[in-house]
Amino acid sequence: MPEYSSYQELIDRDNANDLDAIMDVPNPYIGATTTSVADGADSMFTWDYEKGARPGLNKLYEKAKNSQWNGETDLDWSIDVDQEAIAVFAQGAEPDWAAMNFDPTGTGLEKWGSKEWIQWGIEQQNWSLSQFMHGEQGALICTAKIVETVPWIDAKYYASTQVMDEARHVEVFARYLDTKLSGHYPLNTHLGMLLEDIIHDSRWDMTYLGMQIMVEGLALAAFGFMHSMTPDPLLKQLLRYVMSDEARHVAFGVLSLKEYYAELTDVELRERQEFAFEAAVRMRDRLLAVEVWERMGADPKAVIKGMRGDQLEDPFQQMLFAKIVPNCKKLGLLDASGGWLRDRFTEIGVIQFEDWADTEEEYAAFALGEELPEAGAQSA
Ligand SMILES: [Fe+2]
Ligand SMILES: [Fe+2]
Repeated sequence: MPEYSSYQELIDRDNANDLDAIMDVPNPYIGATTTSVADGADSMFTWDYEKGARPGLNKLYEKAKNSQWNGETDLDWSIDVDQEAIAVFAQGAEPDWAAMNFDPTGTGLEKWGSKEWIQWGIEQQNWSLSQFMHGEQGALICTAKIVETVPWIDAKYYASTQVMDEARHVEVFARYLDTKLSGHYPLNTHLGMLLEDIIHDSRWDMTYLGMQIMVEGLALAAFGFMHSMTPDPLLKQLLRYVMSDEARHVAFGVLSLKEYYAELTDVELRERQEFAFEAAVRMRDRLLAVEVWERMGADPKAVIKGMRGDQLEDPFQQMLFAKIVPNCKKLGLLDASGGWLRDRFTEIGVIQFEDWADTEEEYAAFALGEELPEAGAQSA
């Protein structure tokens, strides 16, 4: 039997759902102007230039060339954004601790009035858009890495279009934050650990698994929810444009890995399962939004544990895995190695999405001008 990694080695703790351990991780990005990460992979030339040898990737590349848009001119930046109104729309004008299933006595939050409550909602907007912006820069860097490392010419071509897409995404999220919202947050420590792992890994397919399948799979689901819920017409428009690209990116991951994984041994597949589990845990841990409570002067541990007890499960946050789980299933990752990843996804409460629509073909439905598919669409 090969030696597999322990939880400790994979996620630096013995229990995936240990709230204290999650909140004890320090954030190295606070106050940093740059962060340097060693890229562990070799660049690869290919001397096989036959375009279209991989028809699925070639089709995606042709589609991408005709789907470029311009963040400067295609979005209506003249729209004013009223953050207070958005906060009130999302959560009401007065503290509603009962709705959060939380007794604030003794945490300092019992003194909160409408002013603090609305400010908290505004900080949530600043925080979540900041994380999306940083994630987009992660995608920009990871996709440039794929251009260098993937051995197939059709994949290098496609990835180069994704580099352009990601530059545009960073640009529009940064502009929205700077001109419409009211402050940045540094990269969340858990999302940062994941991005650094992806860049550091020497195996070219791990970039795809970490970025296209896990990070972008979650982003596509999150953008979909935000797009359907936001009352801000500018953010709605921005997300609609970004999603039309993002669905292609996830399809790029599924198409490429489906071919590559078919040739891997059981031991190699198990390593991919472990990587997918680690990525899922990191992305879930970031959703606690510890930084917002800190900035509001509250003790995140007291508040978050008060709201959740020792329960990490949150039905809304679990929904963000609605694209990841079916895509992992399509790639054979759920059931390899005696169903190891199926068991892990059960442990973190997301296995229920395994038969939802995967994203290999779904990208056409996300094209601009199409009506978006329903968030919970089952696969045919
Ligand atoms: Fe993106
Ligand atoms: Fe993307």
